[in-house]
Amino acid sequence: MKNYNISLIKGDGIGVEIVDEAIKVLSAVGKKFDINFEYKEYLMGGCAIDATGNPLPQETIDGVLNSDACLFGAIGGPKWDNQPRELRPESGLLRFRKEMGVFANLRPAVVYDELVDASSLKPEVIKGVDIMVVRELIGGIYFGEPKGKTETKGWNTMVYEVYEIERIAHVAFKLAMKRDKKLCSIDKANVLDVSQLWRDTVTKIATQYPEVELSHMYVDNCAMQLIANPRQFDVILTGNIFGDILSDEASMLSGSIGLLPSASTGEKTAVYEPIHGSAPDIAGQGIANPIATISSASMMLRYSLGEEEAADAIDNAIKTAMKDGYRTGDLAAFDAKEVVNTQRMGEIIASLI
Ligand code: IPM
Ligand code: MG
Repeated sequence: MKNYNISLIKGDGIGVEIVDEAIKVLSAVGKKFDINFEYKEYLMGGCAIDATGNPLPQETIDGVLNSDACLFGAIGGPKWDNQPRELRPESGLLRFRKEMGVFANLRPAVVYDELVDASSLKPEVIKGVDIMVVRELIGGIYFGEPKGKTETKGWNTMVYEVYEIERIAHVAFKLAMKRDKKLCSIDKANVLDVSQLWRDTVTKIATQYPEVELSHMYVDNCAMQLIANPRQFDVILTGNIFGDILSDEASMLSGSIGLLPSASTGEKTAVYEPIHGSAPDIAGQGIANPIATISSASMMLRYSLGEEEAADAIDNAIKTAMKDGYRTGDLAAFDAKEVVNTQRMGEIIASLI
């Protein structure tokens, strides 16, 4: 039997409920493929502030670094919004990404056939969309110096060094090789020096991947193209802040943000989490959609643990549950045969493994 140590950060709001459902599905997969998962839970975000005064306790950093991979729920909520910025859950998250060295954030935006009507775009525009956004996660304007704020002025700096662009470009090109071999790099090279360096560097790295068709696009045009003709994209490669914005936009192609997983990988460890937030308004009611987190667990099996078969089993179970018409409340209006709560959706997917 194979054995993996998984660190869990359930976090705040619906984080707790959705991670519990992913664990249920992982147990089913473990039974079927003879895998044992050992879990250790760590605090981060609002719950860590309440318990320790610190959104990112050292114990969490050490624990996650020592695990094979981390499954993450969501953090934050209005309760902590008035804290000074360094003590907000979001600062903990940014520090966490940096400490974990997870520079590559993979955010797939896939449209399930059963849910083409759930999108606010026309079915003929979005049917078959399958995009992988590769977002640089621990550099750019989120972290650049100098930064600061006075009464009359505020400033941040967008900086990228060549090695940071190179390593994220390699991740994106390798992914493109396994997909449709098309990579579109997004920047603002008509205005920003940092984007010119980005474009030059990506172009250089492309020579190592002659099979991949590389194109470049300005970020404003990309925002437009994602709505106008999203099927033109396969892999999108971009920096931190453009990726933040474009990945939210891309997620809406699929109709519900409650479906989409993400992986943040680097040299030390990897963190898997739904791309949605902690949804404090519906927390504790058992109505959140756990599929994004269950799908994140599948990415964990695939990318960190090399358990492809087990990952496929989860992906297929999710698809079957969708086909069979099981929907959580967020998707109740779209061909639902039965509207189920969070726990029941977890059980259904587990039983389909
Ligand atoms: C995300 C979020 C975070 C980000 C926030 C919560 C700091 O929007 O993961 O996309 O901007 O990276
Ligand atoms: Mg975001």
